[in-house]
Amino acid sequence: MIDVPAALAAEQVKYNGPAGHAFITALPDLAQSFLDRWRLRLDGPSMHGVSALVLPVTTADGAPAVLKLQILDEESAGEPVALRLWDGDHAVRLLRHDEPTAAMLLERLDPTRMLSHLDDVHEAVLVIAGLLARLTALPAPKDMRRLADIAHAMLEQTPHALKHVSDPADRRLTADCAAALSEVVAEPGDRLLHWDLHYENVLAADRAPWLAIDPKPLAGDPGFELLPAIVDRYDPADVRWRFDALTGVLGLDRDRARAWTLARVLQDCLWEIEDGRPPEPRRLETARLLRRA
Ligand SMILES: Nc1ncnc2c1ncn2[C@@H]1O[C@H](COP(=O)(O)OP(=O)(O)O)[C@@H](O)[C@H]1O
Ligand SMILES: [Mg+2]
Repeated sequence: MIDVPAALAAEQVKYNGPAGHAFITALPDLAQSFLDRWRLRLDGPSMHGVSALVLPVTTADGAPAVLKLQILDEESAGEPVALRLWDGDHAVRLLRHDEPTAAMLLERLDPTRMLSHLDDVHEAVLVIAGLLARLTALPAPKDMRRLADIAHAMLEQTPHALKHVSDPADRRLTADCAAALSEVVAEPGDRLLHWDLHYENVLAADRAPWLAIDPKPLAGDPGFELLPAIVDRYDPADVRWRFDALTGVLGLDRDRARAWTLARVLQDCLWEIEDGRPPEPRRLETARLLRRA
């Protein structure tokens, strides 16, 4: 029997409403159908993040793998495309993919060893920097979701969103992030971005010390990749060091990278505002610190 973790069900209903509920209800049959079709055997308890059910399995020839099931949407649609292009180089290897359902068979990494477990945050930041340097070296394929479109949509949304930010200082800072974005929006970049490389989306493996999982890829400027490594495991005193380390290893122009990082703060702020909340104080503090970096 396939166990659908209650926490995953709760997240799905919270974020995706009826579609999330329908996905969860259909999951046991969906999982079983891929176990049969791809001749897989369950090999341990279910794992999950916020959006995916991940089942440890063994393939017909006995190799350890995982079956990842998630809702097919514009974020997840690019995952197999990017993984196939990276072809196991600094990222988990894609073994099989079913386009209509977004089901993926992936090589199994070590889920007990996440980058978030490293005590030394600077070491962890440098691991992410090294992964990003390699992952973003590839040009994105033509049909990849584009940062350009997302950036233009954000700028269009901003004036209306700002009306819902009651604190004047927060409003000014959010507007400053949009101003920074408008300076670089004409050159949105064309690299293959992971977009979601935070410390829990990096797992250890035998064939490499660390590999990226769970991309929500975009075609764009690598400067748009830096924020997760800066704001997760948050320490305001470390924002400058992390920004310097990431831009240094990636060889990015600091001004452009700062602008794209502020754009990423804006993206988070707009999501909060859309959900009826004020922008997150930490994000705004990060923006304030970055403007001086
Ligand atoms: N290739 C893999 N090998 C081993 N465990 C994995 C693998 N991919 C994902 N996992 C486990 O499943 C969890 C959720 O997977 P992830 O791809 O990050 O989905 P989500 O989008 O839900 O965050 C991870 O945190 C990890 O524990
Ligand atoms: Mg994840």
